[in-house]
Amino acid sequence: MNALELISLSKSFGAQKALDDICLSVPTGSRTVIVGPSGSGKTTLLRMIAGFEFPDAGSLTLNGQVLVDSTHAVPAYQRQIGYVPQDGALFPHMTVAANIGFGLALTGTAREERIKALMDSVSLDANMANRWPHELSGGQQQRVSLARALAQQPRLMLLDEPFSALDTGLRSAMRKMVARLLEDAGVTTILVTHDQGEALSFADQLAVMRGGRLVQSGHPMDLYRYPHDEQTAHFLGEAVVMPARIDSGLAHCDLGPVPVNSNGFSGNAQIMLRPEQLQLSGTVIGNQGCHAVVTERDFAGNTCTLTVELRSPINQDPGRSLLVRSSGMHAPPAGSDVQLSVLGAAHIFTLS
Ligand SMILES: Nc1ncnc2c1ncn2[C@@H]1O[C@H](COP(=O)(O)OP(=O)(O)OP(=O)(O)O)[C@@H](O)[C@H]1O
Ligand SMILES: [Mg+2]
Repeated sequence: MNALELISLSKSFGAQKALDDICLSVPTGSRTVIVGPSGSGKTTLLRMIAGFEFPDAGSLTLNGQVLVDSTHAVPAYQRQIGYVPQDGALFPHMTVAANIGFGLALTGTAREERIKALMDSVSLDANMANRWPHELSGGQQQRVSLARALAQQPRLMLLDEPFSALDTGLRSAMRKMVARLLEDAGVTTILVTHDQGEALSFADQLAVMRGGRLVQSGHPMDLYRYPHDEQTAHFLGEAVVMPARIDSGLAHCDLGPVPVNSNGFSGNAQIMLRPEQLQLSGTVIGNQGCHAVVTERDFAGNTCTLTVELRSPINQDPGRSLLVRSSGMHAPPAGSDVQLSVLGAAHIFTLS
């Protein structure tokens, strides 16, 4: 069952179209991640779901209840939706404990214990309870905001870049912890992020926005492997894109014939491979396969991204430059001759 249904939502601010005909279904208990460049409408969409913005057109339902359509709107405080805004938005005149306990009906010891448990659940030390928001780091403020939203036991949780102020290690630990926490509580979640790794690992469903439009949504693995267009491909990771002539399930391109999922298509098209699909062998054997020379080595610890330049099989003239992912252990240095082969199939961008 779908918890949330967004039907043809549109919103303009003056001449600026912030949301343009957005349709999206969010299954109950799932985690949907929204990604997109700055200004693409992500925050506007979350604010509309929370009830702080209202659409010019379209409707929104949660568990079958219409929250907003052309005739009426349920106010934000009656929606039972948790919202952690991009800047945390803590009440500056309240302590950490008062912020977290803001909407709690409990009193006395039960209230204190609940606040303590909530602080613990977002890895905040209990001795921070009496601090003021301005005495916290950005990452700590985000966690207080998250605990405040969790306190409401929402039926839907909206998180707008909630881990952006955390360093890499804590970010990944927090992400896992929050995912587990929300999953255990069966809370449907929508998360906005700029971080492609975070998007791919957190999401059951990934939605890509650009210029106020939802350009593609689906399982993260499908979007990574089969993006609709080149911009989406680059947004979700590094991509090797080149022209090819498609014929009988093969893409004839600068790499030679490469298998392709062509669905019977033949003709000219742009194809895409992910850098990890290009395999290197260090030694050049005769003139078989695809010969290339390493021009740059970008070492990143466990992996290494190489820029290689293809060499013409006829006269060895320099050709197209490509990115190749290699293990950090055995990455050949710049100047090395290498042989390239392709793992799996290439992807053809949707023909328009
Ligand atoms: N209250 C407002 N008044 C006028 N324009 C607005 C308002 N809120 C948002 N916009 C505009 O709508 C567009 C979408 O903004 P939004 O904040 O939703 O983007 P975003 O995808 O969240 O960006 P970021 O990644 O930078 O947070 C932008 O062009 C923004 O300037
Ligand atoms: Mg935003």
